[in-house]
Amino acid sequence: MSIINCIEKFKKHKRELYTTPSHGQGCFVAPDSLKLLGKKIFTCDFSEIEGFDNLANPKGVIKSAQDFAAKVYDSKATFFLVNGSTSGIIAAMYSVLKRGDKVLIARNCHKSVYNGLVLTGAIPVWIMPKYNSDWAIFETINLDYLEEMLSRNRDIKAFIMTNPTYEGVMSDIYRISSVCKKYNVKLIVDEAHGSLWNFHKSLGTPALIQGADIVVQSLHKTAGALNPSALLHINRDSDIAPKDVQNSLNLITTTSPSYPILVNIESTIKYLSSQKGKFYLFDVIKNINRMLRNLKAIPNLEVYSYNNDISKILVKVTNMTGFELSDILFEQYGIEDELANEKSVLFLAGLGTTKVKLKKLEKALFDLCSKNIKISQNSPDYNSYIPTEPRVRYIPSLIWGKPYKEIELKYALSRVCMEVICDYPPGVPVLLPGEVIKKEHIYYLSDRQKIKVLS
Ligand SMILES: Cc1ncc(COP(=O)(O)O)c(C=O)c1O
Repeated sequence: MSIINCIEKFKKHKRELYTTPSHGQGCFVAPDSLKLLGKKIFTCDFSEIEGFDNLANPKGVIKSAQDFAAKVYDSKATFFLVNGSTSGIIAAMYSVLKRGDKVLIARNCHKSVYNGLVLTGAIPVWIMPKYNSDWAIFETINLDYLEEMLSRNRDIKAFIMTNPTYEGVMSDIYRISSVCKKYNVKLIVDEAHGSLWNFHKSLGTPALIQGADIVVQSLHKTAGALNPSALLHINRDSDIAPKDVQNSLNLITTTSPSYPILVNIESTIKYLSSQKGKFYLFDVIKNINRMLRNLKAIPNLEVYSYNNDISKILVKVTNMTGFELSDILFEQYGIEDELANEKSVLFLAGLGTTKVKLKKLEKALFDLCSKNIKISQNSPDYNSYIPTEPRVRYIPSLIWGKPYKEIELKYALSRVCMEVICDYPPGVPVLLPGEVIKKEHIYYLSDRQKIKVLS
C-alpha cells in the first residue's frame, strides 16, 4: 500500500488516537495557524501508529513508496529525506568517510558539505572549478586537473561535487565518474537542482545514470514539492550498502518525520513518472524554451547558454551590475529573482513557473532593456572576487568549538577565520573556519566591519 492510500484509509475508518502528534489530526490548531494553513495539513500528520511506518527502519508503506521510487529512478535504493538535501549530503558523507579520511571537494559545494566535514572528521582537499568572471559564476571542473589531484593524493576516499551548479552549469559526470573509478574513489553528486532530470530527456542527464555512487536531489527546488523534501539514491552498480546509508541517515534525521512531506514526496514522484506528469513537464520545458528564444532577441540582454540547465535562467544587461538589475526588477516590476551577483541575475523556473509568469518576466526584461538605463557609472563599485584556492590551517572537525574573537576586518590578514562566510544563496563558501584570511578576502568582504578569528 502507498502512503497516499494509507492516509486515505485512516480518514475513512477514523480511530481514536492517544499518540503524538498531540494536535489530534487537527482537533487543535493554534488560531493563527488555522487562519493561514487551514486544518487539512494537520489531518495528514501522524506518527508510527498502526498501519503506518517508521522512516528509520521502514517495513510498510514508507518502504513500498521508497521501493517504488527506486524503480522510477533505477537505483539500488532510494531514501525519502524530510530534512532536505542538507541531510542527504551529510548522510552520504557518513556512509563513505571515517574520521581522518581524505575527501576531495569541489569548492562550489553547498555549505552542508562543511557541516558533514565537522561531523565526520574527514579531511578536505579542495579542487577549484573553472570560474567565469564575466558572469561571476563557477563552471565545470577540468578533467585533467581532477585526475592530477587524485593521482597526487592516492589516499582520497571520495569526491563530492555539485551538478548542476546553482546557476545550472552541467558537468560531464560520465567522464568524472570514470576517473573516480580508476582511482577507487566514491563519487557523491549533489544534484539538488537536477531533480527534474529523470523525467525528461531534453534536460540534463542524471548523475545516477552516469556512474555516480550516491546522488542527492532536492524535490522542492525545481520539482514543485514542499520545502525541504529531498531524495538520496544509491547507484545499482555501487558497492555502498543501503543499510549503511540508512544508519547514517538515522544519525541525523528526526524520529518524527513529517507525513505531509512524505506523502508529498511520494505523490510528486508518482505524478512526474506518469503520462500526465510527463506532458505537464514537457509543457513547462516548452514554455521556458520559448521564453529563452525570445530573451535572446532582446537588445542589451545576454542570456547565459553554456551547457546549462534550462530551469536556471541567467541573464545580464549591458551597463548594469546584477545587483542593480535585481533591484530595478524588484522595485519597478515586482519581480524577485533567485540570486544576483555583481555581473548577472538568476531566475529559477520549475513546475510552478507558469506561462503567464514567464511572460511577465520576459516583458519586464524587454521593457527595461529597451530603456537601456545606464546605471553603473554612478553606482558603487562592487568588489569583484575571483575565488582562490583555500589555505587550510586547521581541519573543520578540529577547529569546531575553539575559542574565537571578533576583530576589525582590516587587521585580519593571515589570521585563521572562525566563521562560515558565504552568500546565501548560493551557499558556496568564501571562507570557512580553519582557513587563512587572504588579502582577496579582505577586499571582497570590505562591506563588513568585523570578522571572527581564532583567539
Ligand atoms: C547545490 C545545493 N546543494 C544542497 C542544498 C541544500 O538543499 P536543501 O535546502 O534541500 O537542504 C542547496 C540549497 O540551496 C544547494 O543549492
